[in-house]
Amino acid sequence: MLRVALIAPPGGGKGTQAAMIKEHFHLTHIATGDIFRAIVRGEYKGNADVEMIKGYMSRGELIPDQVVIDLVRERISQPDCAGGYLLDGFPRTVEQAKAFDRIEEDKRLTHVIYLSVPHEVILERLLGRWTCPTCQAVYHEKTHPPKVAGVCDVDGTKLIQREDDKEETIRKRLEVYETQTMPLIAYYRDAKILTEIDGNATIYDVFSRIKEVLSA
Ligand code: AP5
Repeated sequence: MLRVALIAPPGGGKGTQAAMIKEHFHLTHIATGDIFRAIVRGEYKGNADVEMIKGYMSRGELIPDQVVIDLVRERISQPDCAGGYLLDGFPRTVEQAKAFDRIEEDKRLTHVIYLSVPHEVILERLLGRWTCPTCQAVYHEKTHPPKVAGVCDVDGTKLIQREDDKEETIRKRLEVYETQTMPLIAYYRDAKILTEIDGNATIYDVFSRIKEVLSA
């Protein structure tokens, strides 16, 4: 059974690849960023501190580890994860990874895919990104445009740009990624479940490489 985590810098293609992986391998997709954005919009059950979460996200900082760990632990214990899951945006710190490793053995990660993308590519990707607020489909005005400009191909919703996709916040997110998330690469390399894939290729080339790794 596949229990997979995607690690990549902001704009590295996690959401784009996750949409294809979950369809192909029939996995439950858990994107912590999407969950936190739903909490901020008041669409997620539970008693999370909305203002606190909103503050961290708008500054481009990480939400405190314990909040994220509790949320993901609870989410993967739900029945729809019994057949495998795909984590997008978690873990994000070594602390989160260590806490996650303490769950029951049959729920632990089997694969970690690291998409490496140079920082100079990221800015262009994020400044041109458009997202569907209904189904979370991700587009790019140049590299992956919707069929009708400004409208989601899947459900016809008007596309939006994310609050944290402003240049200053993107730079902060990249800095946070370098200092807090990059150490995870060595952590999972040591655990022998990491595969590095060049994320600076076409969307379909990246996906075909991921398929090879997860089908092996
Ligand atoms: P999150 O939503 O996870 O944001 P992120 O990691 O910054 O990643 P993005 O969603 O911006 O990018 P992506 O890698 O999914 O790229 P995408 O596929 O969209 O987190 C947001 C915030 O939530 C965090 O800052 C933090 O505050 C909080 N948070 C979330 N998880 C947390 C955790 N575990 N701990 C603490 N805090 C947490 O692609 C980007 C663009 O590029 C798109 O336009 C796409 O069309 C285009 N594109 C994709 N692939 C390619 C390609 N191969 N070639 C050309 N263009 C491409």
